[in-house]
Amino acid sequence: MEFIDKLILPQSAITIVLLKNLLFLGQVVFYIFTGTLFASTFLSIKFGSKSNKLKSDFYYWLSADYINLISSNILMPIGLGLIPLFSIILIYMELLHGTGSKLPIFLWISFVLYTIAILIISKYRSMINSKPVSQMGTENTARDRAKIYGIIGTALLFAFFWLFSAILSSSDEKFVWTSNISVPAMLFSFDTFLHFIIIMISSFGLAGIGFIVKYFFWDKPANINERYLKFVGNLNSNFTLLLFIIVPFLFLLNFVLIPIETLSKSSFLIFAALVAVDIIVVGLVYFNQKSYKYDLSTWAFYGIIVIISLNLYSGALSFDIASSAHTYVLATNYAKFEESTTPVKEVNIADLGKEIYSSKCMACHRFDQKLVGPPHKIVMQKYADKRAEMVSFILKPVKVDPAYPDMPSQGLTPKEARAVVEYMFKEYGEKLK
Ligand code: HEC
Repeated sequence: MEFIDKLILPQSAITIVLLKNLLFLGQVVFYIFTGTLFASTFLSIKFGSKSNKLKSDFYYWLSADYINLISSNILMPIGLGLIPLFSIILIYMELLHGTGSKLPIFLWISFVLYTIAILIISKYRSMINSKPVSQMGTENTARDRAKIYGIIGTALLFAFFWLFSAILSSSDEKFVWTSNISVPAMLFSFDTFLHFIIIMISSFGLAGIGFIVKYFFWDKPANINERYLKFVGNLNSNFTLLLFIIVPFLFLLNFVLIPIETLSKSSFLIFAALVAVDIIVVGLVYFNQKSYKYDLSTWAFYGIIVIISLNLYSGALSFDIASSAHTYVLATNYAKFEESTTPVKEVNIADLGKEIYSSKCMACHRFDQKLVGPPHKIVMQKYADKRAEMVSFILKPVKVDPAYPDMPSQGLTPKEARAVVEYMFKEYGEKLK
């Protein structure tokens, strides 16, 4: 924890806005990936068991196809799961810094759960894929052993989602920002439950429609059995349809439960948009299923992604409002921090002097060369012990040497004039001797 605390630096108000946006984007990526992973692993196990009971080829294939819905490339869970989750946690820690909130501890517990779950699910996948599906069917022991890994992995991911729902749904409550949370109240609130159910439903929707999109369009296997294709099309769209008919009621409940303090006009607009997109998704899936063509599935898939994003966005808005008071505290801390870490006033003055010298004075002066004005070498020898007078000259030039034209006023402030003089003596002082 010590080490992590070092990563937390005071942030300006504008950075905090940026962090909150990143938090939202990270959540979208994370949920789309992890939701699909959870649902597809769950379905793979479920249809694996069913295939054992029914001795049906289709269910064997289905079980293997589900676990391969997400590519087995190791970069996927790292790039789309672990890295976004790690960033989400760091941003929360940054934003909660100084509240004394216990949420970071739960966030790290969830991170551990997640990492173990991902590893175990990879093991399940590699066991399922270690034999061609056709051989798996006759050899139940291998499948049963794989199943144990699958069940443990999904159970951990389930626990993770529950804990994470508890964290997210309590982070938009005012009390998190002022006092400590009671753990049972956080874990078993109705809010948490609702949050969790919405995540689960969107995850299964993603897996169901994702399956259709992948096997009918994006990644259609060569010489696939047409009867199987029809079977999976029907199965996936059936359960997705059912789930997304229920969803609007959950959104309604969720909307009603938004704490009054964090309710805004945007919350209402988002709720309306969620219901509208949901109706479109249901319509698309329904017509697809009737026509058996599934050519609208890609749109339904994008629709579900929009629903997930909107839902997370509404959470982000509530979070923003709930955290506004603390954001102010953070930004004030930042201002103090800035002041304390900028001790080098001279450096700034020197930079200022250099800047003005090269942008203004150099137009007419060189150090040891006559240009429009006299060489500064001579001028500086004259003013070596009377820098204040030099400053007043620069501020308000007067006629000095008839051999030169008048020096026009450079419109500097006293501070700037002092900075230039300081810079000149610092830079060229040595060369005067
Ligand atoms: C547009 C041309 C021009 C610019 C720009 C200019 N100077 Fe000059 N400067 C002159 C001229 C011409 C003189 C000689 C004036 C005179 O002798 O009456 C002069 C004279 C001086 C002198 C000598 C005064 C004296 O008592 O002998 C100083 C010091 C000086 N300039 C500093 C600066 C500094 C510092 C800047 C930049 C902020 C600057 N000048 C920008 C044209 C310029």
